[in-house]
Amino acid sequence: MRRIQFFEFHELAWFPSSLRDGITDALQFGIHQLRAYAPVVPLLENALDATGSRLIVDMCSGAGGPWIDLARQLDARMPSRSAENRLAPEILLTDKYPNLGAFENVKVASGNRVDFYPAPVDAMNVPEELQGLRTMFTSFHHFPPEEARAILQNAVAANNGIGVFELPRRAPSTILLTFAFVFMLFVCTPWIRPFRWSRLLWTYLIPILPFVLLFDGVVSCLRTYRPEELREMVAKLNGSEYRWEIGEAAGGRIPITYLVGCPRV
Ligand SMILES: C[S@@+](CC[C@H](N)C(=O)[O-])C[C@H]1O[C@@H](n2cnc3c(N)ncnc32)[C@H](O)[C@@H]1O
Repeated sequence: MRRIQFFEFHELAWFPSSLRDGITDALQFGIHQLRAYAPVVPLLENALDATGSRLIVDMCSGAGGPWIDLARQLDARMPSRSAENRLAPEILLTDKYPNLGAFENVKVASGNRVDFYPAPVDAMNVPEELQGLRTMFTSFHHFPPEEARAILQNAVAANNGIGVFELPRRAPSTILLTFAFVFMLFVCTPWIRPFRWSRLLWTYLIPILPFVLLFDGVVSCLRTYRPEELREMVAKLNGSEYRWEIGEAAGGRIPITYLVGCPRV
Protein backbone atom coordinates (compact mmCIF):
# COMPACT_ATOMS: atom_id res chain seq x y z
CA MET A 1 0.00 0.00 0.00
CA ARG A 2 1.70 3.24 -1.16
CA ARG A 3 1.55 6.43 0.92
CA ILE A 4 -0.83 9.06 -0.46
CA GLN A 5 -0.79 12.72 0.63
CA PHE A 6 -4.43 13.69 -0.19
CA PHE A 7 -6.36 16.07 2.12
CA GLU A 8 -8.31 15.80 5.36
CA PHE A 9 -11.34 18.04 5.80
CA HIS A 10 -10.41 19.26 9.27
CA GLU A 11 -7.09 20.68 8.07
CA LEU A 12 -8.54 22.77 5.22
CA ALA A 13 -8.37 26.54 5.82
CA TRP A 14 -12.08 27.03 5.00
CA PHE A 15 -13.29 24.22 7.29
CA PRO A 16 -15.30 25.92 10.10
CA SER A 17 -13.26 26.10 13.31
CA SER A 18 -16.28 24.98 15.41
CA LEU A 19 -16.47 21.74 13.36
CA ARG A 20 -12.65 21.36 13.52
CA ASP A 21 -12.88 21.59 17.32
CA GLY A 22 -15.67 18.98 17.18
CA ILE A 23 -13.27 16.63 15.38
CA THR A 24 -10.32 17.16 17.76
CA ASP A 25 -12.64 16.90 20.83
CA ALA A 26 -13.95 13.53 19.53
CA LEU A 27 -10.41 12.32 18.79
CA GLN A 28 -9.27 13.32 22.27
CA PHE A 29 -12.29 11.56 23.84
CA GLY A 30 -11.77 8.31 21.88
CA ILE A 31 -8.02 8.14 22.45
CA HIS A 32 -8.53 8.82 26.16
CA GLN A 33 -11.25 6.14 26.54
CA LEU A 34 -9.17 3.49 24.75
CA ARG A 35 -5.92 4.44 26.56
CA ALA A 36 -4.59 4.00 23.04
CA TYR A 37 -1.14 5.50 23.66
CA ALA A 38 -0.37 3.63 26.92
CA PRO A 39 2.36 1.50 25.21
CA VAL A 40 4.49 4.60 24.56
CA VAL A 41 4.97 5.52 28.25
CA PRO A 42 8.29 3.61 28.57
CA LEU A 43 9.54 5.28 25.36
CA LEU A 44 8.70 8.70 26.80
CA GLU A 45 10.46 7.87 30.06
CA ASN A 46 13.60 6.71 28.24
CA ALA A 47 13.61 9.89 26.13
CA LEU A 48 13.20 12.07 29.23
CA ASP A 49 16.09 10.27 30.91
CA ALA A 50 18.31 10.40 27.79
CA THR A 51 17.76 14.14 27.28
CA GLY A 52 17.54 15.18 30.96
CA SER A 53 14.44 17.22 29.96
CA ARG A 54 11.98 18.27 32.63
CA LEU A 55 9.58 19.84 30.12
CA ILE A 56 7.52 18.07 27.46
CA VAL A 57 6.48 20.40 24.62
CA ASP A 58 3.59 18.67 22.86
CA MET A 59 3.09 19.99 19.32
CA CYS A 60 -0.07 19.83 17.17
CA SER A 61 -1.97 19.14 20.42
CA GLY A 62 -5.48 19.62 19.01
CA ALA A 63 -7.79 19.14 22.02
CA GLY A 64 -5.01 17.66 24.16
CA GLY A 65 -4.82 14.17 22.66
CA PRO A 66 -3.75 11.49 25.14
CA TRP A 67 -2.15 13.75 27.76
CA ILE A 68 -4.60 13.42 30.69
CA ASP A 69 -3.98 9.69 30.73
CA LEU A 70 -0.26 9.83 29.87
CA ALA A 71 0.44 12.40 32.61
CA ARG A 72 -1.25 10.10 35.14
CA GLN A 73 0.73 7.11 33.92
CA LEU A 74 4.06 8.97 33.96
CA ASP A 75 3.33 10.19 37.51
CA ALA A 76 2.33 6.71 38.71
CA ARG A 77 5.68 5.33 37.57
CA MET A 78 7.78 8.05 39.25
CA PRO A 79 8.34 6.26 42.59
CA SER A 80 9.95 3.28 40.80
CA ARG A 81 12.49 5.48 39.01
CA SER A 82 16.05 6.33 40.05
CA ALA A 83 16.38 9.26 42.48
CA GLU A 84 17.76 11.72 39.87
CA ASN A 85 14.88 11.00 37.46
CA ARG A 86 12.05 11.07 39.98
CA LEU A 87 10.88 14.63 39.24
CA ALA A 88 7.67 14.57 37.14
CA PRO A 89 8.08 16.51 33.87
CA GLU A 90 5.99 19.60 33.13
CA ILE A 91 3.70 19.10 30.13
CA LEU A 92 2.83 21.95 27.80
CA LEU A 93 0.24 21.66 25.01
CA THR A 94 0.85 23.77 21.88
CA ASP A 95 -0.74 24.11 18.45
CA LYS A 96 -0.53 26.34 15.38
CA TYR A 97 -4.26 27.03 15.88
CA PRO A 98 -4.61 26.68 19.68
CA ASN A 99 -8.04 25.48 20.84
CA LEU A 100 -7.84 27.42 24.12
CA GLY A 101 -11.21 26.18 25.44
CA ALA A 102 -10.12 22.55 25.04
CA PHE A 103 -6.67 23.31 26.51
CA GLU A 104 -8.36 24.85 29.59
CA ASN A 105 -10.54 21.74 29.97
CA VAL A 106 -7.50 19.46 29.87
CA LYS A 107 -5.72 21.66 32.41
CA VAL A 108 -8.68 21.40 34.81
CA ALA A 109 -9.33 17.68 34.17
CA SER A 110 -5.67 16.88 34.82
CA GLY A 111 -5.65 18.83 38.11
CA ASN A 112 -3.31 21.45 36.55
CA ARG A 113 -0.86 18.69 35.68
CA VAL A 114 -1.09 19.53 31.94
CA ASP A 115 -0.63 23.19 31.02
CA PHE A 116 -0.65 24.99 27.66
CA TYR A 117 1.10 27.71 25.68
CA PRO A 118 -1.57 30.15 24.44
CA ALA A 119 0.25 31.61 21.40
CA PRO A 120 0.39 29.73 18.07
CA VAL A 121 3.34 27.32 17.76
CA ASP A 122 4.35 26.00 14.35
CA ALA A 123 5.91 22.54 14.69
CA MET A 124 8.40 23.49 11.96
CA ASN A 125 9.58 26.57 13.84
CA VAL A 126 9.17 26.16 17.60
CA PRO A 127 9.99 29.29 19.67
CA GLU A 128 13.45 29.16 21.27
CA GLU A 129 12.01 29.64 24.78
CA LEU A 130 10.31 26.23 24.54
CA GLN A 131 13.27 23.98 25.33
CA GLY A 132 12.31 20.40 26.17
CA LEU A 133 11.37 17.02 24.81
CA ARG A 134 9.05 17.63 21.83
CA THR A 135 6.19 15.21 21.21
CA MET A 136 3.58 14.76 18.47
CA PHE A 137 0.58 12.42 18.66
CA THR A 138 -1.64 11.45 15.72
CA SER A 139 -0.33 14.41 13.71
CA PHE A 140 2.91 13.64 11.85
CA HIS A 141 1.03 12.06 8.92
CA HIS A 142 -0.54 15.44 8.11
CA PHE A 143 2.75 16.73 6.81
CA PRO A 144 4.17 15.90 3.37
CA PRO A 145 7.75 14.53 3.44
CA GLU A 146 9.51 17.92 3.13
CA GLU A 147 7.49 19.46 5.99
CA ALA A 148 7.76 16.33 8.13
CA ARG A 149 11.53 16.44 7.66
CA ALA A 150 11.50 20.19 8.57
CA ILE A 151 9.78 19.33 11.88
CA LEU A 152 12.54 16.85 12.75
CA GLN A 153 15.25 19.21 11.48
CA ASN A 154 13.91 22.04 13.67
CA ALA A 155 14.16 19.78 16.77
CA VAL A 156 17.70 18.72 15.80
CA ALA A 157 18.76 22.36 15.20
CA ALA A 158 17.54 23.19 18.75
CA ASN A 159 19.30 20.08 20.12
CA ASN A 160 15.96 18.96 21.61
CA GLY A 161 14.69 15.40 21.83
CA ILE A 162 11.61 14.51 19.78
CA GLY A 163 9.04 11.71 19.93
CA VAL A 164 6.49 11.13 17.14
CA PHE A 165 3.66 8.67 17.82
CA GLU A 166 1.04 7.56 15.32
CA LEU A 167 -2.12 5.52 15.94
CA PRO A 168 -3.20 5.40 12.26
CA ARG A 169 -1.30 2.87 10.12
CA ARG A 170 -1.19 2.05 6.43
CA ALA A 171 -2.66 -1.39 7.14
CA PRO A 172 -6.08 -2.87 6.23
CA SER A 173 -6.62 -3.96 9.86
CA THR A 174 -6.20 -0.36 11.17
CA ILE A 175 -8.40 1.04 8.38
CA LEU A 176 -11.13 -1.42 9.48
CA LEU A 177 -10.65 -0.38 13.11
CA THR A 178 -11.24 3.23 12.04
CA PHE A 179 -14.83 2.28 11.17
CA ALA A 180 -15.32 0.74 14.64
CA PHE A 181 -13.70 3.80 16.27
CA VAL A 182 -16.06 6.20 14.47
CA PHE A 183 -19.07 4.03 15.38
CA MET A 184 -17.99 4.15 19.04
CA LEU A 185 -17.71 7.97 18.85
CA PHE A 186 -21.15 8.15 17.17
CA VAL A 187 -22.72 6.23 20.08
CA CYS A 188 -20.77 8.09 22.79
CA THR A 189 -21.22 11.65 21.45
CA PRO A 190 -23.50 12.82 24.34
CA TRP A 191 -20.63 12.08 26.76
CA ILE A 192 -18.01 14.12 24.87
CA ARG A 193 -17.03 17.23 26.86
CA PRO A 194 -17.55 20.17 26.76
CA PHE A 195 -21.23 19.34 26.16
CA ARG A 196 -22.61 21.24 23.17
CA TRP A 197 -26.08 20.98 21.59
CA SER A 198 -24.38 21.77 18.27
CA ARG A 199 -22.33 18.56 18.63
CA LEU A 200 -25.60 16.54 18.78
CA LEU A 201 -26.97 18.48 15.81
CA TRP A 202 -23.86 17.83 13.64
CA THR A 203 -23.75 14.17 14.72
CA TYR A 204 -27.34 12.89 14.76
CA LEU A 205 -29.47 15.31 12.71
CA ILE A 206 -26.95 16.34 10.05
CA PRO A 207 -24.13 13.78 10.47
CA ILE A 208 -21.23 15.90 9.24
CA LEU A 209 -18.99 15.05 12.22
CA PRO A 210 -19.17 11.22 11.78
CA PHE A 211 -18.65 11.60 8.02
CA VAL A 212 -15.57 13.81 8.46
CA LEU A 213 -14.20 11.58 11.24
CA LEU A 214 -14.50 8.54 8.97
CA PHE A 215 -13.12 10.25 5.87
CA ASP A 216 -10.23 11.90 7.74
CA GLY A 217 -9.57 8.70 9.72
CA VAL A 218 -9.21 6.57 6.59
CA VAL A 219 -7.10 9.23 4.83
CA SER A 220 -4.91 9.49 7.98
CA CYS A 221 -4.17 5.77 7.71
CA LEU A 222 -3.25 6.10 4.03
CA ARG A 223 -0.90 9.03 4.80
CA THR A 224 0.93 7.56 7.77
CA TYR A 225 4.66 6.97 7.34
CA ARG A 226 5.96 3.46 7.79
CA PRO A 227 9.05 2.82 9.97
CA GLU A 228 11.27 2.30 6.88
CA GLU A 229 10.13 5.68 5.46
CA LEU A 230 10.89 7.37 8.80
CA ARG A 231 14.39 5.83 8.75
CA GLU A 232 15.00 7.27 5.27
CA MET A 233 13.79 10.66 6.51
CA VAL A 234 16.12 10.86 9.51
CA ALA A 235 19.06 9.76 7.35
CA LYS A 236 18.69 13.07 5.44
CA LEU A 237 18.85 15.34 8.52
CA ASN A 238 21.82 17.66 9.06
CA GLY A 239 23.42 18.62 12.34
CA SER A 240 24.22 17.10 15.68
CA GLU A 241 24.57 13.41 16.29
CA TYR A 242 21.25 11.85 17.27
CA ARG A 243 20.24 8.37 18.36
CA TRP A 244 17.00 7.40 16.59
CA GLU A 245 14.65 4.62 17.67
CA ILE A 246 11.99 3.82 15.07
CA GLY A 247 9.48 0.98 15.07
CA GLU A 248 6.04 -0.21 16.12
CA ALA A 249 5.01 -0.60 19.78
CA ALA A 250 2.64 -3.55 19.93
CA GLY A 251 1.88 -3.72 23.67
CA GLY A 252 -1.61 -2.12 23.53
CA ARG A 253 -4.91 -2.65 21.73
CA ILE A 254 -3.59 -1.08 18.51
CA PRO A 255 0.08 -0.97 17.38
CA ILE A 256 1.65 2.51 17.55
CA THR A 257 4.27 3.61 15.02
CA TYR A 258 6.98 5.61 16.81
CA LEU A 259 10.07 7.64 16.10
CA VAL A 260 12.13 8.87 19.05
CA GLY A 261 15.29 10.93 18.55
CA CYS A 262 17.64 12.14 21.28
CA PRO A 263 20.94 14.02 20.96
CA ARG A 264 23.93 11.79 21.70
CA VAL A 265 25.78 13.17 24.73
C1 LIG B 1 -5.18 15.49 14.20
S1 LIG B 1 -5.14 17.04 14.96
C2 LIG B 1 -4.74 16.83 16.64
C3 LIG B 1 -4.03 15.63 17.13
C4 LIG B 1 -3.83 15.63 18.62
N1 LIG B 1 -2.42 15.58 18.89
C5 LIG B 1 -4.53 14.41 19.23
O1 LIG B 1 -3.84 13.47 19.63
O2 LIG B 1 -5.76 14.42 19.31
C6 LIG B 1 -3.72 17.84 14.27
C7 LIG B 1 -3.44 19.23 14.85
O3 LIG B 1 -2.28 19.77 14.19
C8 LIG B 1 -2.41 21.18 14.19
N2 LIG B 1 -1.47 21.71 13.17
C9 LIG B 1 -1.58 21.71 11.82
N3 LIG B 1 -0.47 22.23 11.24
C10 LIG B 1 0.38 22.55 12.26
C11 LIG B 1 1.71 23.10 12.34
N4 LIG B 1 2.40 23.42 11.23
N5 LIG B 1 2.26 23.28 13.55
C12 LIG B 1 1.58 22.97 14.67
N6 LIG B 1 0.33 22.45 14.67
C13 LIG B 1 -0.25 22.23 13.49
C14 LIG B 1 -3.89 21.40 13.88
O4 LIG B 1 -4.32 22.67 14.33
C15 LIG B 1 -4.55 20.25 14.66
O5 LIG B 1 -4.98 20.67 15.93
